[in-house]
Amino acid sequence: MDVFECIRTRRTVRDFRPDPVPDDVLYRILQAARWAPSSSNTQPWHFIVIKNPDTIKQLGTICTQGTFISQAPLAIAVVMADARRPDLDAGRALQQMELVGWSEGLGTCFVGMRAEEQQVAVKELLGIPEDMALITVLPFGYRSEGARGRGTPRKPMSEITHHERYGQSLALE
Ligand SMILES: Cc1cc2nc3c(=O)[nH]c(=O)nc-3n(C[C@H](O)[C@H](O)[C@H](O)COP(=O)(O)O)c2cc1C
Repeated sequence: MDVFECIRTRRTVRDFRPDPVPDDVLYRILQAARWAPSSSNTQPWHFIVIKNPDTIKQLGTICTQGTFISQAPLAIAVVMADARRPDLDAGRALQQMELVGWSEGLGTCFVGMRAEEQQVAVKELLGIPEDMALITVLPFGYRSEGARGRGTPRKPMSEITHHERYGQSLALE
């Protein structure tokens, strides 16, 4: 799939088919993360691959903003070690994982864990050291044919772009 087409068509997926994700596809997703850029090339990330159905079910129970994790055949927790800018570095890796997953027919959803108790519970479940930053748990699974997410339009280009100075409109065909 062409890069722009992948970016343009990707949508968050919260319903997964139960079919397992083959290891070669999983490997490509992890490689996509591994090749992401990071501040000073520190590569402060760790990726915990979870396939155990019991663990996945427990993640779905803990993560109230992502209960659909429990249906996924695969989840990957993204954890940052001693990163100066963990969100930025993780964001670069995450997006690459999402796009490669999408190009392989998979879907995923960024699952946030805002509550401290959720962070603690997931860290305990996955054996993540307390001082590491848990960014998200990404469920992965094959998406149903034609899955287009919840319909998530984007702001018009004219609202978010500017010509030379903020507030001056950019006329692009
Ligand atoms: C930082 C971040 C946090 C998010 N947290 C959640 C979440 O906790 N639960 C959820 O269902 N979706 C979550 N999302 C998905 C967004 O709702 C989704 O990306 C947005 O509505 C745009 O839709 P699209 O990805 O289909 O284009 C999150 C996305 C981002 C980037």
